[in-house]
Amino acid sequence: MIEEPSRDSGGMGIVRPGPFLPRKMELKSLIRTLVGEHTTMKEGLRAAREAAQKHDFGALAKTLAGLDLLFRQHIVDEESTILRLLIGVLGTKGAEEEIRVFQQHRPIYQLMRRIAEFASMSASELEANQEELRNLFDTHVAAEEKQIFPKAKSLSGRLQG
Ligand SMILES: [Fe+2]
Ligand SMILES: [Fe+2]
Repeated sequence: MIEEPSRDSGGMGIVRPGPFLPRKMELKSLIRTLVGEHTTMKEGLRAAREAAQKHDFGALAKTLAGLDLLFRQHIVDEESTILRLLIGVLGTKGAEEEIRVFQQHRPIYQLMRRIAEFASMSASELEANQEELRNLFDTHVAAEEKQIFPKAKSLSGRLQG
């Protein structure tokens, strides 16, 4: 059973679920790790869909449980390290767009939790939820990789310089 997301950072509607702590890594390697996890999570979502199509619900549950853990650690790092850096440099107003992107963590996570209750859904409902999750997730990671991570890197360079 997946836990309910608990804390909300600064009332911005951003999820801070679970017992995860931010990983202590240098920014460049953290970003490399996060990008690698995007690939892993996309593969996981694809595997979950294939498992559902084959009615292999054991594999589906296992894949979703793995994704849940990975996603929760991942968003802790994004919100605690990347977003904190951007807000620190740009202010809440200046980082409005980045905050908006990170607010997508909550609907993504809620959709993941809904999918984890696949036993109560019809096959078409499950497929529709998985399709919606894939679209949300793809849009979200594209914004992170194309806009947010490069901006965080350049701002941290400016801070150090
Ligand atoms: Fe994210
Ligand atoms: Fe991400």
